[in-house]
Amino acid sequence: KTKKLKDEIFKANKLAALNFHRRLYSKIGHAALEYLYGRGIDDSTIKKFGLGFSPVNGDEVTEFLRNQGFSQEFLLTAGLSLKSVSRKYHDRFKNRIMFPIIDVKNNVIGFGGRVLDNSLPKYLNTPETPVFKKSKTLYAINYAKKSKEDKFVIVEGYMDAIALHQCGIDFAVASLGTALTSEQGKLIKKYRENVVISYDADEAGVNATLRGLDILEGLNLNVSISTVPKGKDPDEFVRKEGIEAFRKMLQNAEPLIEYKIKMYKKDIDLSRPEDKIKYIKKISSDLSLIKDQVKRDVYISIVSKDVQIPENTVRTEIEQFVNRFS
Ligand code: UTP
Ligand code: MN
Ligand code: MN
Ligand code: MN
Ligand code: MN
Repeated sequence: KTKKLKDEIFKANKLAALNFHRRLYSKIGHAALEYLYGRGIDDSTIKKFGLGFSPVNGDEVTEFLRNQGFSQEFLLTAGLSLKSVSRKYHDRFKNRIMFPIIDVKNNVIGFGGRVLDNSLPKYLNTPETPVFKKSKTLYAINYAKKSKEDKFVIVEGYMDAIALHQCGIDFAVASLGTALTSEQGKLIKKYRENVVISYDADEAGVNATLRGLDILEGLNLNVSISTVPKGKDPDEFVRKEGIEAFRKMLQNAEPLIEYKIKMYKKDIDLSRPEDKIKYIKKISSDLSLIKDQVKRDVYISIVSKDVQIPENTVRTEIEQFVNRFS
């Protein structure tokens, strides 16, 4: 029963995606197509990702799918239609660049839609449906899983992932925002052991990088951080600095624990006992998350030497964290 419902939603989504895509290349999609070209996206990338354009207003997609035999109730469930107070059904996505979201089995599970101007919300996503859970989703994983590369690079946004794929970084996936979840981590773990995080260089991105990544470390993934210069995101970076610069940045990605050491040390003065104590406690909590024994030992040794404190002090502190969390 639920399998049948899910398959029906995939079918409707696929038809909607094709409809959006056709519209992008029709007269009405002209501004949207120009917008994408203006952001450096070419036709083959548009085709590869099935990008589209949603009707400016009204119920065109709803009507189109009604004519294909889908009921209005069903289209609500699928997240494609909305019901207004006047009880009239209309399209959820209006006047937006459409990004079909495709899962590992090549099903269209939902959509993201971007406005063409500065209005808000900038992106609108499919709500939770029987087939779409944002927290379980990694955009572009349908392509990234086929890459020859032994890692994924995780970016925040649709445009980041698309820009990277267009210039050959075919192992990019987007977490669709900054909050990385354990479900996304587990999905990564199914395919790869190594991940590089390349989030936006704004405060939200840095905080997410620090916070969300414990999740990945806890899953015993090899996590490293690649930091784009301040104010940029990977999309802007490759466009301005070029793909070689991005590849170089990936090569210089820092292991998570080294990134944390660097971030923690930025705001403190280790010659002050107070700061030193705080630092040791903080970093011990992070060291406690490292599951790999050898890796943990190596960093205990590095940290101990760095702050000139016996390794055993750090080990005892780590033990406390391990006990607290288990
Ligand atoms: P960003 O704000 O960094 O957007 O959000 P972006 O991708 O760089 O946007 P462009 O370059 O201006 O087009 C990163 C991601 O967070 C999600 C989207 O998946 C977006 O790609 N997001 C952002 C939303 O879901 N809703 C929003 O309103 C904003
Ligand atoms: Mn951002
Ligand atoms: Mn932003
Ligand atoms: Mn961007
Ligand atoms: Mn961004």
